[in-house]
Parts: sequence; C-alpha cells; structure tokens
Amino acid sequence: MTESFPPGFLWGTATAAYQIEGAVREDGRTPSIWDTFARTPGKVLGGDTGEIAVDHYHRWRDDIRMMADLGLTAYRFSVSWPRVQPTGRGPVVQRGLDFYRALTDELLAHGIRPSLTLYHWDLPQELEDAGGWPARDTAYRFAEYAGQVAGALGDRIDLWTTLNEPWCSAFLGYGSGVHAPGRTDPVAALRAAHHLNLAHGLGTQALRAALPARAQTGIALNPSAVRPLTLSPQDADAQRRIDALANRAFTGPILKGAYPQDLFADTARLTDWSFVDAGDESTIHQRLDFLGINYYAPTVVSAAPPGPDPRRDGHGASAHSPWPGAEDVAFHQPPGELTAMEWSVDPTGLYDLLLRYTREAPGVALMITENGAAYDDKPGTDGTVHDPDRIRYLHAHLATVRRAIDAGADVSGYFLWSLMDNFEWSYGYSKRFGAVYVDYETQQRTPKSSAEWYARLARTGVLPEAPAA
Ligand code: FCB
Repeated sequence: MTESFPPGFLWGTATAAYQIEGAVREDGRTPSIWDTFARTPGKVLGGDTGEIAVDHYHRWRDDIRMMADLGLTAYRFSVSWPRVQPTGRGPVVQRGLDFYRALTDELLAHGIRPSLTLYHWDLPQELEDAGGWPARDTAYRFAEYAGQVAGALGDRIDLWTTLNEPWCSAFLGYGSGVHAPGRTDPVAALRAAHHLNLAHGLGTQALRAALPARAQTGIALNPSAVRPLTLSPQDADAQRRIDALANRAFTGPILKGAYPQDLFADTARLTDWSFVDAGDESTIHQRLDFLGINYYAPTVVSAAPPGPDPRRDGHGASAHSPWPGAEDVAFHQPPGELTAMEWSVDPTGLYDLLLRYTREAPGVALMITENGAAYDDKPGTDGTVHDPDRIRYLHAHLATVRRAIDAGADVSGYFLWSLMDNFEWSYGYSKRFGAVYVDYETQQRTPKSSAEWYARLARTGVLPEAPAA
C-alpha cells in the first residue's frame, strides 16, 4: 500500500477566532457569548478566558511566517462575528474586516491557501440576548453576515465553511450547558439545532450569491462514529438514538432535505418540532462542494444499566444531558490508549465516517477539517518540545485516511487541530492541542517535534515514519 497522498491534497492546520485572537475589546469588537460565558465564575476551568488567548490579533504576521517556514499549504481560520458585525445585524465594521483582509493577503503572499469558517461558536452577545440560536431570526442574521463577509473577502478566498460543529453549538450550548451560552433546556437545544441548520442553508445561498463561481462552500460537522457496547437489541437502539441526534439531525436535512422520522419520534415527548416551517428542509438542502469532518475519537454507547450513572460522553461534566430524549443512554470509555482529554486513540472511527459519507454524500468531496490530540507537552531543559504521542496519533489517523482513499473516499485535504496551543473552551488553557507550543507567560512559540514531522508530510506528500511507542 502506498503511503503517499494525491497531488494537490491540502495540508493545513486549523484554529478558531476566540481560541487564539485575544484583543476582545479592540477595534470595535463587542462581547460574544464566549466572552460572557468565560467571565462567569465556574464555567471555564481555572477561570481562564480568551481575553488575551495567544494574542494572535497582534502576532498574526509572525504566526503566518511560522506556518510558511513549516511549509504548510493551507490554513483554516474563523472570523469573529462580533469583530465584523458587533451587534449581529446591520452594517459591518471595516476595521474588523481589514484584519481578516490583511491576514488573508499575508497567507496568499506565503503560498498558503486560506479556508474561512464563518461561525466557530462566537455568537454576538446581542443576538443571544435577542433569543440566540433557539430563535429563528438568528439564522437570518447569520445569512446577512455571511453575505457581508463574502462580499468583502470573496475575491481572495475560495474555501468557505458556514458553521463549525453545529452539534456542539446546539447541544453543549443549550442542552448540557458546558459551552456558551450555558443554557440547559432540551427543547431550546433542538430548536437551536434546527436554526443552525437553517443558518447553514440560508448562509450557503448568501455565499453563492456573493462569491465567484470558483469558490467552494461547505460545512464542518463533528459526526460521531457511534458504536454499541454489546450486540443486544437495547444497545443497538441506544446507538440508533445517538446517531440520530449526533449525526442525522444535521446530515438528514443537509444531505437529503429531510429530518429523520425516528428523531421526531424519539423527542416527541419534548416537542412536536412545529418550529420547522414548510420549506425549511429544502432551504437547508443546498449543494455542498465539500463536507468537512472533524474527528477525534469514536463513541461507545449502551442502554443504561441500573445503578450508578456511567455517563462519560467526553464533553465536560454537567448534571444536564446534551442528548434530548436520549438522556438514559450510557457512554463508555473504550479500552486502550487515551489522550490528555481522556479521548481514546482509535482511528477506525475516522475510517468508518469517511466511508459512510462517501456513500451518503456521493459526489461531495470530503475534507478533514479537524483532527488532532491533546497531550501534556512540556519543554525539555534545552527548550525543545518532544511530543511523540501526538506524532503517533497523527500517523495512525493519516494512515487511515490513506486507506479510506484507497477504498474510494474522495478526501481533498487535512487540517491538523491545531496550529498552536490555545484556549480549549471549558478546559481553558489546560489542554494543549498545538503542533506549536505556546508559553502563555511570554507568548513565545516553539514548534513541537510533531510540527516538524507534519511539515515533512506537507512538503513531500509522503507519510513519514512515527517514532516507536
Ligand atoms: C472541536 C472544536 C475545536 C477544538 C477541538 C479540540 O470540537 O471545533 O475548536 O476545541 O474540538
């Protein structure tokens, strides 16, 4: 089996605005739901916030030079909505757009292809105050913002992603409350999921209206590779229910133009879904140029056994479930190696998802918009940072991508999460996902050995060996 990737394959890293930019009060930016949430005591580990983050808003030129030195050919970043349209409605702030314009031009000058994500979780607080994602109007506000950003940057960016992981926005933001805005209302979470889908549909229409024909648009989902603990019919049903909420609630309308009937049945005691208007599902069903897949680890579920709750779904502790109508499903830690997030190292889930969406989205290119791992990296006495565990994780997952391509998956690129250590949401700065180490006191960047390894792959298109365990 060849370990080389197709010519033109995109090799990038990914980041998100709130996780790296800092400068939360500069140049007209207003608070997003993540500013508010992170400042609320008890919501983020250690009381960390994105106020300074890794100061990318001021260090972007150096960060791009670092990417260029590593030989990376693509970069996925997100635009901070409240930096560009502070109230979430009406005219844009040019200073906000200028930042992303300059960033893009610098990337292009270094031969790095920009890939822009419009929404990576930082809703303008004003829109949350007006109802947030459970309110239908937020979808229309998103489409307006999408059109504005496309109008401003469409001449220089040709890869556009509407939303990042709408499952997290809806179910962690409004269900379990471990993400901003921290609400814990199962019906609000289902409404949010629908309005995020609608935002994707309306946003895609707005993008296509403003972008040149060569531009490609898509969405980045975090589909779950859900597995049953046993072969019992009860566990199979637990798998079906989580698959409906995690996956088909999004891919149903996006890829097929219809919500799955079993999702309606499973949640019938909570809502009749009358918030889905006639025509919404076809609005959501827009042609995709690519489907972004964010993958970290598979999910193992069972029907809940009697006794203490073994819930462990990897998304942070909460007394509230992120699974409306499936609150009784139990989540299990698969045996084997774990990352610092306590997520298992198991690339077979990625293989399954790539082949699943090859079948379910024929003709749509797949892009791995995120994949990576957190480890407790520390500089050695000589200042270098060795992270062989991360190299092994990346190697295993990329060898799997290669196998999926051989089996017929049309995968066009891979974005390592993340370029550098950053604000890991409710875990604050305690989890390091970067290929580049950041000293949060001095903001000094040090490429880890995984960055050098990944750079070699990006330059040659051939998977380098990983160090032995
Ligand atoms: C994903 C997020 C990304 C990062 C990784 C670890 O769910 O999209 O921002 O936090 O997880």
